[in-house]
Amino acid sequence: MDSSRISLRLFKLSDVDDLLKWASDDRVTRYLTWNSITTKEDALTYLETVVIPHPWRRSICLDDRSIGYISIRPESGDDDRCRAHIGYAVAEGYWGQGIMTMALKLAISKVFEDMRESLVRLEALVEVENKGSQRVLEKVGFQKEGLLRKYGFCKAPKASQLSVNLVIFKCGFVLNKSFNLAI
Ligand SMILES: CC(C)(COP(=O)(O)OP(=O)(O)OC[C@H]1O[C@@H](n2cnc3c(N)ncnc32)[C@H](O)[C@@H]1OP(=O)(O)O)[C@@H](O)C(=O)NCCC(=O)NCCS
Repeated sequence: MDSSRISLRLFKLSDVDDLLKWASDDRVTRYLTWNSITTKEDALTYLETVVIPHPWRRSICLDDRSIGYISIRPESGDDDRCRAHIGYAVAEGYWGQGIMTMALKLAISKVFEDMRESLVRLEALVEVENKGSQRVLEKVGFQKEGLLRKYGFCKAPKASQLSVNLVIFKCGFVLNKSFNLAI
């Protein structure tokens, strides 16, 4: 993939149709905290209420069309503002072409600049079996810090599923500001 075709930008309401293409795909949302979005109306509401107000969420664009996202949420407490959590996805048709590697490099440089007063540490939590996600983090310089046992749920379970889905192991990854990102 030619890197000049890949860019990050803020989402717009007019991205709704492109967003629906990848956000409705269960293969894309399987390891995300949110469920697939299946209607244009829900996609529009999601853009208006979640995506656009987000403190740092960018559309990954191919030729300026949205094919995925990166979201970086800083912790809000005075003691925790040095940390932010990163999440991401790209449309299934584009997996394995180096797009997320390119997009994460762009995002990391930009977010450390945008939050230079406070941000020191970027964190990612990845399901143990999500090997592609772990690999992409390592490719951009994240280091695995450890295995978090019984850490939580991938998606919020229904009450009846609590005992079934209780144990989710996550791998914790970190990238600190001092890391010399090779772009
Ligand atoms: C994970 C994801 C973001 C990767 O995006 P991508 O654009 O395909 O990533 P890249 O092509 O830049 O790099 C993927 C790397 O993982 C590797 N990989 C993919 N699947 C793998 C697997 N099952 N086991 C080992 N490595 C794997 C690829 O070979 C590649 O490494 P390489 O360049 O050394 O060959 C994408 O698959 C996705 O959106 N998944 C669904 C959402 C998701 O899981 N988000 C993360 C939640 S923590």
